[in-house]
Amino acid sequence: MITTLRGADYIATQDWSVEALETVLETSFDLKRRFALGEPTRLLPDKTLFMIFFDKSTRTRNAFEAGMTQLGGHAHDLNPDIMQISHGESPRDTGIILSRYGHGIAIRHDLEPGAGDAYIREVALHGDRPVINLQSDVDHPTQTIADLMTMREKFPEGLRGRKIAVSWAYAPSYAKPMSVPQGLIWLMTRFGMHVTLAHPPEYGLMQNIVDDARRNAELSGGTFEIVNDMDAAFEGADVVYPKSWGIESLFGEPERALEISKKYTDWICNGERMRLAKPGAIYMHCLPADRGYEVTDEVIDGPQSVVFDEAENRLHTAKAIMALTM
Ligand code: CP
Repeated sequence: MITTLRGADYIATQDWSVEALETVLETSFDLKRRFALGEPTRLLPDKTLFMIFFDKSTRTRNAFEAGMTQLGGHAHDLNPDIMQISHGESPRDTGIILSRYGHGIAIRHDLEPGAGDAYIREVALHGDRPVINLQSDVDHPTQTIADLMTMREKFPEGLRGRKIAVSWAYAPSYAKPMSVPQGLIWLMTRFGMHVTLAHPPEYGLMQNIVDDARRNAELSGGTFEIVNDMDAAFEGADVVYPKSWGIESLFGEPERALEISKKYTDWICNGERMRLAKPGAIYMHCLPADRGYEVTDEVIDGPQSVVFDEAENRLHTAKAIMALTM
């Protein structure tokens, strides 16, 4: 367990050692136990977190705001429209100013490939306080650490050698960010899992992350492969994580992207596909899910679904990240 994370930024799991990530998990399990017992956990009394949301959020916003309250501090729920960001104030100046007023800065900036991670890193470079990525164009590290916690709970005998299928699925609602599948292949390849990424040809992930995933798997004793077939990914899987994401070059052209996605409406997680996975396989999704498109009600509300435990773990992991870094 690492005791020197105070002041660290949490922008991508790939920036953190496995030992540091294990420290987050250990702390999350402890905080979850204490939450269940009703024990107070005022570990950050009088501290302030500034949360800036460039995009909508239910789980992340409320996990961090409730988490900060439970830790004895306060979280400001901000967005660019109520800040001078909307008049062009720079990430550098925003980072410096907010660092003078409080103890941590957390940012979601996820819908524009090439923009969010760069913005968050610019704030971190110039601010003096820990910066937490609440979802960028590149990674969603507060989601994937909760996913890892959930898998550890469901497979207490360990994840090494288990197969996870990270698959694209069709959704008509909007072009969802690429950061969840990217974060999953980045993180799960570091824990000795067999990671299969499945997507139609147009839906490739950022190349540097795919390259990292291959290297991570070699180092951890896991494997990493990419297929263009949802069924092949589900075959023999212990964990299935089908979700939609957009086409990297088309986030600025939603109508064109939607037209392309309509070729793949059969990429849905249904009961028939679940039967390709192992009998004890679990179904995961970061939520919100497009019911009837990404997944059938039968699956998401069925016995193999762990989505609400997964969503709950957003709270415990958020508290752990804040308590360790702020
Ligand atoms: N999974 C997730 O990040 O949910 P929100 O978009 O509601 O925060």
